[in-house]
Amino acid sequence: MNEHAHPLSISERADELEEEKMHEMERIITKSTIAHLMDGEVKMDTGPEMKGKYPGKFFLMGGDPRLPPMPEKPTLVDYFRHRFASTAHLLQSATHALKGGQPEKVVLACLLHDIAIVSFIRCDHGYWGAQMIEPYVDEEVAWAVKTHQALRFFPDESVGYGYPDLYKELFGPDYRPEPYIVEEYKRARAHKWYMTSRLICVNDIYSFDPSAKVNLDDFVDIIGRNFKQPKEGLGLDNSPSAHMWRTILWPTRFL
Ligand SMILES: [Fe+2]
Ligand SMILES: [Fe+2]
Repeated sequence: MNEHAHPLSISERADELEEEKMHEMERIITKSTIAHLMDGEVKMDTGPEMKGKYPGKFFLMGGDPRLPPMPEKPTLVDYFRHRFASTAHLLQSATHALKGGQPEKVVLACLLHDIAIVSFIRCDHGYWGAQMIEPYVDEEVAWAVKTHQALRFFPDESVGYGYPDLYKELFGPDYRPEPYIVEEYKRARAHKWYMTSRLICVNDIYSFDPSAKVNLDDFVDIIGRNFKQPKEGLGLDNSPSAHMWRTILWPTRFL
């Protein structure tokens, strides 16, 4: 307990609690710079400083004991169960596509379209998500995931897709997408796979219906047929995006 004269602010108290918790850990757990940037601070957990704070301890070079354990050779389904912070939106979108009779490629694209948001990072989630899955899925699926981020902002009357009311609520009525999004939209609009990405938007369900029954088990076979699960475990293979999966697997490794 801190007994200084001035009362601690909520964030100071949170820092103190975090530090107390860290002292109980066997290894030193660090935050990456991007985690600090997201807290509005340009700083890093440097080696000497952290060693000074937690003398005699070594840095964590593996799984974070605070997180749910993952199997030795994790699959995409394991990431869904133990690393994705929320799966309802993805499962609902995929369920909608499945019930609408969409091909498996589209169902998979819907199931994976926001994985970056639920497991990794919000900013440019379409691009990150596409890179994560690119080595393991049909090229068209990764392309659709990348471009849905831009297409979401532009209506297409031919499929009954309008600018989402939710976006007006979330970003305000005056929000306009940045030029790089407008350019991405134009390229996507003229692309041969345009409709695949558009179908993600059409099935991108935001009105969460608590009575709707969604279950990851319904998609295990579709994943099995359409996602090339590496035998070494997702992230422990040698694909161009394996490091992204490893980062989600071991987000607080020192290096
Ligand atoms: Fe999205
Ligand atoms: Fe979405």
